[in-house]
Amino acid sequence: MTYAEKLITALAANGTLPDSDFYELIRMRKSLGEEERELLGREARRKADSVYGKDVYLRGLIEFTNVCKNNCLYCGLRRDNREIRRYRLTKEEILDCTDRGYALNFRTFVLQGGEDPHFTDDLVCEIVSEIKERHPDCAVTLSIGEKSRESYRRFFEAGAERYLLRHETANEEHYGKLHPAELSMRHRMQCLYDLKEIGYQVGAGFMVGSPGQTDDCYMDDFHFLRELQPHMIGIGPFIPHHDTPFRDCPKGTLEDTLFFLALLRLVFPEALLPATTALGTIHPLGREMGIKNGANVVMPNLSPASVRGDYLLYDGKICTGDEAAECRRCMEMRMERIGYHVTVGRGDHAGFVRHGTSDF
Ligand code: 5AD
Ligand code: SF4
Ligand code: FES
Repeated sequence: MTYAEKLITALAANGTLPDSDFYELIRMRKSLGEEERELLGREARRKADSVYGKDVYLRGLIEFTNVCKNNCLYCGLRRDNREIRRYRLTKEEILDCTDRGYALNFRTFVLQGGEDPHFTDDLVCEIVSEIKERHPDCAVTLSIGEKSRESYRRFFEAGAERYLLRHETANEEHYGKLHPAELSMRHRMQCLYDLKEIGYQVGAGFMVGSPGQTDDCYMDDFHFLRELQPHMIGIGPFIPHHDTPFRDCPKGTLEDTLFFLALLRLVFPEALLPATTALGTIHPLGREMGIKNGANVVMPNLSPASVRGDYLLYDGKICTGDEAAECRRCMEMRMERIGYHVTVGRGDHAGFVRHGTSDF
């Protein structure tokens, strides 16, 4: 066995490695051979199979506003980008999306948007409660950025039970390179702890290969995630957007993204790990490879076709020309083709029992 294979095998067996070994594995990732990568992916998938079997959870994504008051340097929706057509769906349009999604058998809706002041707490609550009223058997997930604890509490009472807020990076210096000074990593983390305390199922996550990201940053991400213990961890490659300051930065690689997905699966066996749209964007079979490396969630797009092409966080985004029904069918076929089965179940059953450990 090679040194890397020993580390991978130990991580798979124990769900943890001493910090120095975990760091070493991360450091070696670019030079792993084909067999070592395959071993890692296989072990991660085996772990996912043991918890979730061949089920892949479906979540319907509704990108309801591309207006954002923030100016994250990596994102195409940043406020300084004057080149995009901004849109907001009305409440009726959002409800129409969830109705159509329901007919397509979706039972979880993810309402995602920029930090758009138009959507006041009152309006968000109204939308959430109306979705829950129409579809009481569905889960509503919000992904609308940093809000006050009080706002989060109100959304929760209105019926939102899950919240996605990627931490982006758990390294303060790196956070400062990705964001303008008015955004702070501490505040973002506080939001995540608030959400958890209120009772949300929480999703965190980071980009792979973002500008300035080092191996230490990834270590910090794993330490932070181990502390937070989120229910979901969303990762995807950084992909440059041509109208952002990072336009000329290299994108994150397929290999690194699959590597980190597999590591996450081994360290967090019960986590929900999406095979993201960004992963599907850097390779035509990226999402399938994500599943084979331990992911167990896919989020087909339910946004109206008329606005799909306007929610561009990065260049080259897939599924922008397709209808909800097409994406749904396409995703189902893609998963069946690799031996997996999309399920509309809510994915709550796994229990999320976790154990505190001091090392990886
Ligand atoms: N490339 C990849 N992912 C991006 N995101 C934002 N911009 C980019 C980009 N250029 C991710 C962020 C954000 C999520 C909604 O999309 O991690 O949290
Ligand atoms: Fe706004 Fe989110 Fe893009 Fe940052 S990443 S600019 S908060 S939409
Ligand atoms: Fe959207 Fe294939 S998943 S078109």
